[in-house]
Formats: sequence, C-alpha cells, structure tokens
Amino acid sequence: MPPPDPQPGGHRSPQGRTAARNSVVWDALLEVLRETTAAVLDIGGGTGGFAVRVAELGHQVTVIDPSPDALAALARRAEESGVRDLVTGQQGDLASLLDLVAEGSTDIVLCHGVLGVVDDPAAALTTIARALRPGGTLSLLVGQRHAAVVARAMSGHFVSAKELLEHPDEGAEAAASPRRFTADQIVAVLDESGFDTTAVHAVRVFADLLPGSLVDLEPGASQALVELERAVAERPEYLTLATQLHVLAARRS
Ligand SMILES: C[S@@+](CC[C@H](N)C(=O)[O-])C[C@H]1O[C@@H](n2cnc3c(N)ncnc32)[C@H](O)[C@@H]1O
Repeated sequence: MPPPDPQPGGHRSPQGRTAARNSVVWDALLEVLRETTAAVLDIGGGTGGFAVRVAELGHQVTVIDPSPDALAALARRAEESGVRDLVTGQQGDLASLLDLVAEGSTDIVLCHGVLGVVDDPAAALTTIARALRPGGTLSLLVGQRHAAVVARAMSGHFVSAKELLEHPDEGAEAAASPRRFTADQIVAVLDESGFDTTAVHAVRVFADLLPGSLVDLEPGASQALVELERAVAERPEYLTLATQLHVLAARRS
C-alpha cells in the first residue's frame, strides 16, 4: 500500500472522502499555525483527529474533553504518532474551561463540532474568548442549517426535511440532532461574544452528497474532489450548501 500523500509541513493527510471533508478546515488551520509556535487548546478535541496533527507541526496542544474513552484514544494516537510530549489530555468541558485554563493564556483555540451540543452557544463562546489572549484565534466548526434539510431530502426523508425547514429550532427533528447555524447567525453570535470574524469557509459542500463509490473507486477522484471543495470554500454563494461552516475569528482586545 502506498504511503499517505504528504502535505505542507511534513505531516500525513487522510485519504478519500475524509480528505475531502477535512481539507478546507486543515488548509485554513495551516495558515494560522504556520505563523507562530503556539499554545493550542482543542476544546472537545475527542480522540485527537486534529490535535495530534497540530502537535505533529510542533505545537503544544491541550485537549479538553468530557469523555474518558476519547482521552484514552487520544493518548494512544499521540503515542503512536510520536508526539506524546506535545499532547496533554484533560477531562472537562466548556462549562469548566476556566477552572482548567488560565484566562488569556491561549494563543489558538479549536472548537470543532462542539458548539452545537452546548445549551448556550453565546455563553460558551464568551468563555472561550476569556481563555484566549487578546488577538488570539478561534477555529470554529459548526453544522450549517440549510444542508440538514437537503441531506434529509436526498436520503428520501421528505417529511422530516419539511419539518426541519419549517421548524429549524424546535420540534422532534431539531431536538434529535445538534444545533446548526447559518453563516449570519454564527457571525452574529461571535460578535456578541467578543470575537471579530476574519473568515467563513464552506466545508463539505459536495463530499457528503456523493455516493462513496464515486470517490473511493475512481482513480484520481479523491484528489479532484479535494480540489473542488477548496475551490468553493471561500465563495459566499456556497455557504448555504455546505454541511459545515468553518470560521476563523480573533478575540477582540
Ligand atoms: C463531534 S465530536 C468532535 C471531535 C473533534 N473536535 C473533531 O472535530 O474531530 C464532539 C466532541 O465534543 C465533546 N463534548 C461534548 N460535549 C462537550 C462540552 N460540553 N464541552 C466540551 N466538549 C464536549 C465530545 O466528548 C466529543 O469528543
């Protein structure tokens, strides 16, 4: 089996559809991480899919997550990747963040796939802002509201698609899954919480809609899909089609 494709910075990139799902987020993160050697906090970092790759670039990463199982998997992954000394796992959650991390102590916070499951997103973002130093960067990944309606319709669940369309914030369909945001909503809540948004990226515009056979079996399709996802990531007209939104925001001074 050939080795995974190298990426800038020397770390390895994931393959196939996973690469298409993560490439836009990872490209944006690399831009931020290249500028400095940073103290990085990955809140809800889980098993370290991002954290370990960030550590492979030489950054010190602390993962805070409520799940002991996830933290155990993180430790194994860091060990296997040779970055055990750069990765620290701590059990905790967004509500207890400031008991674990000194205020203003962090250069970069990753908060990927977590804001949708907390009760009060604005309060959670305000807590993250306090953990960051002024001017520090937040990398935020959230579900995008309109794509959930499309995804249900594409899988033949037309009634639940319509229910979610008409009642995005309440009802059984909304309650059954994490909260999702429109681009305008997430920029507004960030502003309210002390952040200036510097970039909003459309993530997974095509990757989640395609049959796996098109991506995994066709030679070269995976890389072509990565390039397509990159090509639309900064086009505002594609934000409403994206499964996720990736936002970079700076803590206001
Ligand atoms: C969808 S996973 C995302 C994992 C990782 N950030 C990624 O992008 O691969 C959500 C993670 O958030 C954690 N989590 C759930 N509630 C949380 C909370 N209130 N504060 C912090 N993390 C939480 C879960 O244990 C899980 O590891």
